[in-house]
Amino acid sequence: MSAVTTVSVHSSQYPEQVARDLAESLRRRQVNHKFHYDSPRQTLAWLKLHEALSPARTDPDCVETYDRGFSETALRVHASGVRVIGLGCGGGKKDLRLLQLLRESGKTVTYTPADVSVAMVLVATQLVEESLPECVDSPLVCDLATAEDLAGVLGVGEGPGSARLITFFGMIPNFEPGMILPKLAALVRPGDFLLFSANLAPGPDYAAGVEKVLPLYDNALTRDWLMEFLLGLGFDRNDGIARFRIESDPGALGLKRITAGFEFLRPREVTVGRETFAFAAREEIQLFFSYRHTPELVRSMLGQVGLSVREQWITRSEEEGVFLVQKG
Ligand SMILES: C[S@@+](CC[C@H](N)C(=O)[O-])C[C@H]1O[C@@H](n2cnc3c(N)ncnc32)[C@H](O)[C@@H]1O
Repeated sequence: MSAVTTVSVHSSQYPEQVARDLAESLRRRQVNHKFHYDSPRQTLAWLKLHEALSPARTDPDCVETYDRGFSETALRVHASGVRVIGLGCGGGKKDLRLLQLLRESGKTVTYTPADVSVAMVLVATQLVEESLPECVDSPLVCDLATAEDLAGVLGVGEGPGSARLITFFGMIPNFEPGMILPKLAALVRPGDFLLFSANLAPGPDYAAGVEKVLPLYDNALTRDWLMEFLLGLGFDRNDGIARFRIESDPGALGLKRITAGFEFLRPREVTVGRETFAFAAREEIQLFFSYRHTPELVRSMLGQVGLSVREQWITRSEEEGVFLVQKG
């Protein structure tokens, strides 16, 4: 393992901007999800939760589904070299598997991990470097929601005749689709490949499917992870209570999401920079939400921003889907 890793940091994650985003979260009583992956403690808590509960780690069929999607994608990429850009790379395990299968299919690969969290970018870089030395190129810390010039920043680096494959795994649930999808679509160039995965609501009844997966969120590991944000600001576990519920989006698509809120049981205040934020008893701050989709919803959401699903691989449990997407 190298003793030094060079990581570029986009201005969307410079301290002043991050402080503004944090103040905005507290003012609006809605935590921007990026603050759940900020500190090494949060990163470790999320990785622990992911190992214990994510179907990608616990369901062998889910692992096989990703593998099948990756192998079949490798067959569709005719270039001999592939630059993989992992948007919201997290710990990098899915991206590593993709890189390995591309390599096994005879391609040369390079990998640019990109995430809002420095710790995640470092974890992913180290993981990939251990198996595929010299493969990581230009790791990037950035906020995908606010960086306006990412197409330019990510648009350099691949050799002539090389293909570009962008991954966006497990990201869509935690963003408002109307905000993030146009930004994602702007990053995908004609001829690029996008591998996109989403947590799905299983079964023919969408509402019942969302109910079924609620325990994957409403549990001690998820509470511990989400509480890290409040504890890091100086709040106490006993200041309130975290509650999970299902909400319906009033928008045209009729999406449903699982939301976690923290209801204060006593008045508390916190000072960040020069601003003090006061929370009254019974007031709630939204900590987290996760949209659940169906394959049809994924297709229609992507279609609205000019992206087409070329192939899809759905787990037998119907709880997760991988989609190969291209422009047009
Ligand atoms: C649910 S995890 C998915 C990780 C990985 N892609 C996977 O499937 O295992 C979400 C990831 O998105 C990152 N993230 C959250 N908000 C982000 C933002 N605004 N810009 C970039 N990355 C973000 C987090 O740091 C975290 O690594």
